[in-house]
Amino acid sequence: MFIRWRHVIGLVLTVMISVPLITWSGVIGVRASSGHWKVTDWFLHWAMRSSIRTAAFGTRVPELNEDAWAMAAAHFESACATCHGSPISPRPASVDGMLPKPPDLKLLIPTWSDAELFQIVQHGVRFTGMPAWPSNSREDEVWAIVAFLRRYPSLDAQGYKDLAGLTSSDLDVTDRLAASCNTCHAPGRMGANTPVPLLEGQSTAYLRDTLDAYANGSRPSGVMQAVARSMTAKDRSDIADYYSQMPLTAPSVRTQPSKHLRGEQLAKDGDYSKQIPACLSCHDKQDGSPAYPSLSGQNEAYIATQLRLFQAGTRGGGSYNKIMHAAAKNLTSEDVEVLAAYFSARQPD
Ligand code: HEC
Ligand code: HEC
Ligand code: HEC
Repeated sequence: MFIRWRHVIGLVLTVMISVPLITWSGVIGVRASSGHWKVTDWFLHWAMRSSIRTAAFGTRVPELNEDAWAMAAAHFESACATCHGSPISPRPASVDGMLPKPPDLKLLIPTWSDAELFQIVQHGVRFTGMPAWPSNSREDEVWAIVAFLRRYPSLDAQGYKDLAGLTSSDLDVTDRLAASCNTCHAPGRMGANTPVPLLEGQSTAYLRDTLDAYANGSRPSGVMQAVARSMTAKDRSDIADYYSQMPLTAPSVRTQPSKHLRGEQLAKDGDYSKQIPACLSCHDKQDGSPAYPSLSGQNEAYIATQLRLFQAGTRGGGSYNKIMHAAAKNLTSEDVEVLAAYFSARQPD
């Protein structure tokens, strides 16, 4: 028998009518409790692995930063362990009913490459509940998480606790809040290349406006957004007060002095021909506006990252942040490096 056009059209019509009918009848189950058939489960994972492998193709993997481990571990404890569990806490019972269940990552991480882990954490996994990173302009943060995930399978409970800075304590509200901030922000927990800023010595206004900006999403950061949104406006204001009263410790990190001269010159005089303003005409002045953060003694890698984000136009902040987009626009990548080196080693007045 020949297959004629009318057979094909008949088949297509039958499918077009019967699929909505069957769906409407309600016999296709969406219950998580009954699980997937083995073959569906296999198919979905096969589709997921294939999709992530293809998406990761051509992803450029930067050097993974070990100094971001502590920050990423603290973020993992508050944002990932709630589903995946961690070396100090089993997966919570509340997520056991999810389909698929968030897996224990210890065994699975070694089955993915760095580029694939990046794709998973940046974009999440559709149909599973695995969320995307809250911001798509912060690849640097996602790479910090990937660096930590590489370390994760070899951590025991104590190693994990130390890395994430977890301590139990009975402190008052602001001190308890500060203890939670200090899992990342304590100067003693920062390596030379840390992506975390020092908070001491900034003005109350800058700290408060910044926390508000993280909370309302106008300054993108998957890490700090999660922190700021979990606080009330009063908490944000109280903790801003708290850190503004703490003295800034002298810079501990010294970089190559050769970089400083060029950095110092740019910071003091700017570069008229390239339309780069003098940074010190706003920053670190005795009578400067409280909206201008202080840069002296701030961590070098943090300063450099912020300047690059200003250049990319993705660094939000308080109401004056657009000033910095203009100030950073014409900096070369070498300018960024020398300025970060200069300011991180500069003594606060
Ligand atoms: C709301 C729950 C939830 C949260 C929060 C969550 N995940 Fe997931 N995650 C999942 C689920 C569900 C899967 C998919 C499991 C599957 O396909 O079987 C998954 C998959 C993964 C995978 C791939 C593992 C594999 O081979 O299946 C990685 C890696 C991962 N998550 C890392 C993270 C990291 C890092 C964070 C925190 C930034 C995080 N997850 C936050 C639920 C969650
Ligand atoms: C999981 C680690 C982590 C925790 C916990 C954390 N922070 Fe942060 N914080 C970061 C990182 C990383 C950045 C840099 C984000 C960016 O690039 O915008 C940051 C940036 C900030 C900034 C911006 C500073 C500047 O100079 O612009 C403020 C303010 C801040 N955090 C306050 C807090 C407060 C207050 C708490 C506690 C309630 C806290 N953070 C808890 C990691 C953390
Ligand atoms: C006209 C004033 C002005 C000038 C000139 C200026 N800045 Fe800024 N800068 C600001 C303001 C305002 C902010 C705060 C933005 C916000 O709301 O987060 C800022 C923020 C920054 C930050 C982020 C600090 C942090 O803690 O996150 C860095 C880094 C920075 N400036 C570096 C520079 C450098 C380097 C120069 C010189 C090339 C410069 N600035 C010139 C006003 C200025």
